[in-house]
Amino acid sequence: MLIVKHETYNDMSRAVANMIAREIRNNPHTVLCLATGSTPIGIYQELVRLHREEDLDFSQVTTFNLDEYYGLDKNDPQSYSYFMREHLFAHVNVSEQNIHHIRVPSNNLEDVARYCQEYELKIKQAGGFDILIDGIGLNGHIGFNEPADELQSYTHLVDLTQSTIEANSRFFSSMDEVPRHALTMGMATILGAKKILLVASGKHKAEIVNTIMDATITTQIPATLLHLHHDTEMHVDSKAAQLVDQKRSAERS
Ligand code: GLP
Repeated sequence: MLIVKHETYNDMSRAVANMIAREIRNNPHTVLCLATGSTPIGIYQELVRLHREEDLDFSQVTTFNLDEYYGLDKNDPQSYSYFMREHLFAHVNVSEQNIHHIRVPSNNLEDVARYCQEYELKIKQAGGFDILIDGIGLNGHIGFNEPADELQSYTHLVDLTQSTIEANSRFFSSMDEVPRHALTMGMATILGAKKILLVASGKHKAEIVNTIMDATITTQIPATLLHLHHDTEMHVDSKAAQLVDQKRSAERS
């Protein structure tokens, strides 16, 4: 896994957006796997700017979202479908039929496995992801693949950990409103992407970035599995890179 450091959050967002834009310009049928969370927002803002000011054309692009809360309506402002519309889809010319979210009609638990399989099939039919973007949870989760003794390979329903529920409660008016379950692509779905771009920003991510860069692989820190992928880059700003920098300078002295 390559670590790419940028001075600021904006520098990082611009650099990653430019990589995506280059891919789309080279291949108008690019298939993207997109993520939510606060970290990718800057990338989406820059992609919107590139669309408006530099004619970046999304008309043939296909998107799949990495994860989604289980049981929230797609119009719920906390749903990831809503998030993607607000931050990207409403502002670029991506075609509605090319946008995919992992959605299971609420309260339809019996059908979850079928919806997950259908989602995997759609990814396969689209030819897999050219680029996958994702942030990192404070506990090293990827999408909603939470630390565990065993990780699921493909799209599935998960019970969120207390750490994730607490981290995500900042978006809800009370802790009770945070969904306890989510749907997420599995590790094999993620590792199937041609290129993976992880993004992390801020001091609070410095520890997990450092742990991941240690390169030991453990299912207790799902992001470490990305060391098995041949083309993963972790893009970080200077604050998130702090501990990696300290360690590298200590190693040199
Ligand atoms: C959520 C998402 C993850 C994302 C994580 C980090 O839990 N399911 O896909 O990586 O948030 O979010 P942030 O970028 O806000 O730290």
